[in-house]
Amino acid sequence: MELKDKIAIVTGSARGIGRMIALELASAGAHVVISDVLEEDSQKVVQEIKNMGRESIWVKADVSKNTEAAHLIQSALDKFTRIDILVNNAGITRDNLLIRMSETEWDSVIAVNLKGTFNCIQAATKSFMKQRSGKIINIASVVGLIGNAGQANYAASKAGIIGLTKAVAKELASRNICVNAVAPGFIQTAMTDNLPDKAKEALMNVIPLARLGQPEDVARVVRFLSSDATNYITGQVIHVDGGMVM
Ligand code: NAI
Repeated sequence: MELKDKIAIVTGSARGIGRMIALELASAGAHVVISDVLEEDSQKVVQEIKNMGRESIWVKADVSKNTEAAHLIQSALDKFTRIDILVNNAGITRDNLLIRMSETEWDSVIAVNLKGTFNCIQAATKSFMKQRSGKIINIASVVGLIGNAGQANYAASKAGIIGLTKAVAKELASRNICVNAVAPGFIQTAMTDNLPDKAKEALMNVIPLARLGQPEDVARVVRFLSSDATNYITGQVIHVDGGMVM
């Protein structure tokens, strides 16, 4: 119960990795604000957390919109009066080869993944600064470190998240706010379900642990980075990728 009565916000937590992060933080004792654009799935996660004896609310917010990110943070403060942990997990892919990538495909991925992370951090920072404590954890990707054909937009957004993490870590360190990133490899979720079998087979050759990761593999690391065990860790990128990058 290392997060007993801490208040956490997890974006994109209706399903997949975000849902698992929300459940993992709740199992460590945190009350969790579920934020996503999907209502039905979000409400299910809220109920799962309430069943664990923690408090939870859903706040609908498209993180790519500055005003909606601000609304998310304000709603969390209205309900819980403080925020201890912000996990920026909401993300999308719109894959295409560079030569065919449309402006919309580029803009939408940068807007949700990179600007969305910025929007939420900026909206929450005042409250973290006042408290002189806080944990910000941004979900990047192995693709932001090594690139991937067909994902120029996604790779750029995730590499951007890593730069953003380090810059903000430096800005907020004097206020005792820790800002870190987690870079998952290939994790079994809706995002990777439609990878062709051939691509999955090829992946086994580049993942030393020779399996796709599970949402729990990422969620446990986020739980660790949210805890007091990591009070002297900031500006880091933790790879959760079965050894793909080492
Ligand atoms: P997912 O597609 O299952 O879940 C993403 C969630 O974000 C969904 O619930 C979706 O509704 C929500 N979302 C999308 N756009 C949003 C917006 N504008 N505002 C608020 N919420 C929004 O994907 P998954 O796999 O769970 O991914 C979670 C995070 O992990 C993403 O940032 C993704 O880039 C990252 N990641 C995933 C990997 C994988 O292999 N699945 C690998 C590396 C990183």
